[in-house]
Amino acid sequence: MTRLVICVLLCASAVLGGHEKYEGHQLYRVSGANADIAALEAHLDLLSMTPAARTTSGKLEAVVRLSPEEKAQWLSLFDSKSMTYTKIADNLADILREEEASIQMSRATVKRSGKSMSWDTYYRHDEINDYLDELAATYPELVTVINAGLSYEGRQIKYVRISTTRFENLRKPVIVIDAMVHAREWVTTPVAMYIINQLVVDIVDRSLTEYIDWIIIPLANPDGYEYSIDEDRMWRKTRSKNHEGADECPGVDGNRNFDHYWGTSPSSADPCSIIYEGPSAFSEPEIRIIRSAVLSNLERTALYISLHSYGNMFLYAWGNNATLPANGLILHLAGIRMATAIDELALDKADRYVVGNAAQVLYFTTGTSRDWTRAVGIPLTYTLELPGYEYNFLVPPSYVKQIVTETWAGIAEGAKYVLSTW
Ligand SMILES: *[C@@H]1O[C@H](CO)[C@@H](O)[C@H](O)[C@H]1NC(C)=O
Repeated sequence: MTRLVICVLLCASAVLGGHEKYEGHQLYRVSGANADIAALEAHLDLLSMTPAARTTSGKLEAVVRLSPEEKAQWLSLFDSKSMTYTKIADNLADILREEEASIQMSRATVKRSGKSMSWDTYYRHDEINDYLDELAATYPELVTVINAGLSYEGRQIKYVRISTTRFENLRKPVIVIDAMVHAREWVTTPVAMYIINQLVVDIVDRSLTEYIDWIIIPLANPDGYEYSIDEDRMWRKTRSKNHEGADECPGVDGNRNFDHYWGTSPSSADPCSIIYEGPSAFSEPEIRIIRSAVLSNLERTALYISLHSYGNMFLYAWGNNATLPANGLILHLAGIRMATAIDELALDKADRYVVGNAAQVLYFTTGTSRDWTRAVGIPLTYTLELPGYEYNFLVPPSYVKQIVTETWAGIAEGAKYVLSTW
């Protein structure tokens, strides 16, 4: 009888989130030389990296996940390289079960109540799509939904164009924002939806739509997102199987799949790596959709931001080498303005934002959307790493309101910067 009750509880949770695969997995905070930390990413699940400036050691710090089987081997490697480490979580499966319970209590990932969207929960892909269609129906003079194409598994990817002039005034600058390229970074989609809300529903500053056109892609990787809800909360990549080794290791890291120095980083060539770049540049339908959205109004696109989680950083080009684009100073200044606007509203316990060159702040990356968009000519392009506090990407629903509100302040500041310089 007892056993039956236990099975009902455990088996139910196993069916829901697939968390049992993380039974006994521990999280460690590891600190070391940049190159040593960078080398981990090809073999381990790196949850985040923290720039040297924020740590006292003058090094790079990462949070890594170690399975019971691989733990001893990695800890001794850390020792041999004089990398210091502390355990910060004892059993990831427990943390994931707690997160799932908290989300169900806030009735998340289920249904919207009525027509509005609330900022204390996470919605599934079909709910987001329905909401976008409703917005376009309610505000036809301002919002157009583009049915941009299907994901690898056949889900409709939609994005919105927001314009008071139907994208016909070619003198207006365009701002492009995408979210949820990485599946497990759940809070990115509410942030994108809140930006849409502030521009369209609440209209907090009419000049931001009167003088700027917006393209917002709130859920770029629906296959990965849905998979991260139902099967594997830690899933990051797409779910495609067009590459060799896909049966064992499906999916591609969308933010290594852009055609900028693609294929030049050995650590991104392994299909089983968390940062696998894919069989070719733009192999992923989800990433081709971002490409066409970006190219659709390229000449007048002034600012591109890709929303990611987590780490409190504005990162700008180049990532493939530690040099700056010609407008590096402007990239830095605009980044500081956005970051400062966010920091002013941040929780006391939040890390202050770091603004910097991606390769200097962290380490080399190839095939990123930030570098590709800069290379094709958009002046201001950033990877924005939102806050995770102590929850990494498992941001509790109760923090969503805080993050969407403060991030909007940064986006609005970026938009004003665009207006003042266009
Ligand atoms: C660094 O990469 C950029 C493109 O991202 C390229 O234009 C530049 O020439 C490279 N610089 C060096 C020193 O390799």
